Amino acid sequence: MYQIKLFNKISTVGTSRLDAAKYHCAEESDSYDAILVRSAKLHDTVFPKNCKCIARAGAGVNNIPLDRCADEGIVVFNTPGANSNAVKELVICGLLLASRKVVQGANWVQSLSGTPDIGPAAEKGKATYAGPEIMGKKLGVIGLGAIGWKVANAAVALGMDVIGYDPYLSDASKAALDPKVAVVTLEEIFADADYITVHVPLLDSTRSLINAETIAKMKDGVRIVNFARGELVDTAAMDAALTAGKVAAYVCDFASEEMLAQPNAIVLPHLGASTPESEDNCAVMACDEVSDFLENGNIVNSVNFPAVSLGAKNGSPRLLVLAKAGVDVSARLAAQGVAVSANSGGTRGNYSAFLADVDQVVSNVDGDGILAVRTF
Ligand code: MLT
Repeated sequence: MYQIKLFNKISTVGTSRLDAAKYHCAEESDSYDAILVRSAKLHDTVFPKNCKCIARAGAGVNNIPLDRCADEGIVVFNTPGANSNAVKELVICGLLLASRKVVQGANWVQSLSGTPDIGPAAEKGKATYAGPEIMGKKLGVIGLGAIGWKVANAAVALGMDVIGYDPYLSDASKAALDPKVAVVTLEEIFADADYITVHVPLLDSTRSLINAETIAKMKDGVRIVNFARGELVDTAAMDAALTAGKVAAYVCDFASEEMLAQPNAIVLPHLGASTPESEDNCAVMACDEVSDFLENGNIVNSVNFPAVSLGAKNGSPRLLVLAKAGVDVSARLAAQGVAVSANSGGTRGNYSAFLADVDQVVSNVDGDGILAVRTF
């Protein structure tokens, strides 16, 4: 029986796909084969020796210690695209909120409650809450992954002039992107966009991507939307730019005291993926990744090991060797007298994976650099 530890509530639409005869999911568990997690922070978690994989029901993985997991032979998965429609819809809402003073106007009209002749009173004061349309304005989309390209295409459909930037533009995103979206440099986005939305992961290289220096390159009165991660924006720089009017509005999905106190910011409590549809989609994808890995050794959508796949097990013993990059696993298996009938291998950054159908079960591969050997 595989033990699955749930660090957050995971939709049962996903967990019900795990065969109850083979899997036991529980929130309270000290010894487990896999973790299903949403936003719980795992940086300080000591993983048990039998923990083989972690699946994040979501896209961002900044709550998981990826390199430590790789060094401990734990494969980490995410669910790219599973919540992208939910986030896209809220980003479009964010663009409108950055323009039309909907939140400010709604709060103000609420404050009129009890005023005699409230209808005319509301009409009289509404001019303060006027804001521009987004049609015809230039939107810069930073990051054209699963969410970014959908935002770009939806903004085109709303009549915006869309430019996008992505140094790692995938073939899939390129093919999906509306031909009206011009792919440009980051500098062009900063210089030309009336609205900017960020859709990049939080990495050391992207932390504070929007800072005093990059804001200074932007148009006066630019409106910025951030539904990716709060730390992509330097909050102090944003606060100063909003107060000075350099940035007309900032809509973000991440709370901070500074932004709550800033009249030109609208703060939401990380609602981007909070739809029943996306919670189900993420749970389904995460559970399928876990079962395919635990039963077949296939690695699909990992963020710390390369993709490897040999399909469903076909009767012969199967071996997965996780190793440091550069280790010649097939040569080592050959030296141990193991015959390989099919294999799938690759490298991602400092780590490699080698999945093989073999003629005998081996529980160890000789030599340095081996992180884990899994048998199926
Ligand atoms: C994501 O990373 O998938 C989104 O920010 C939503 C979430 O964190 O659950």
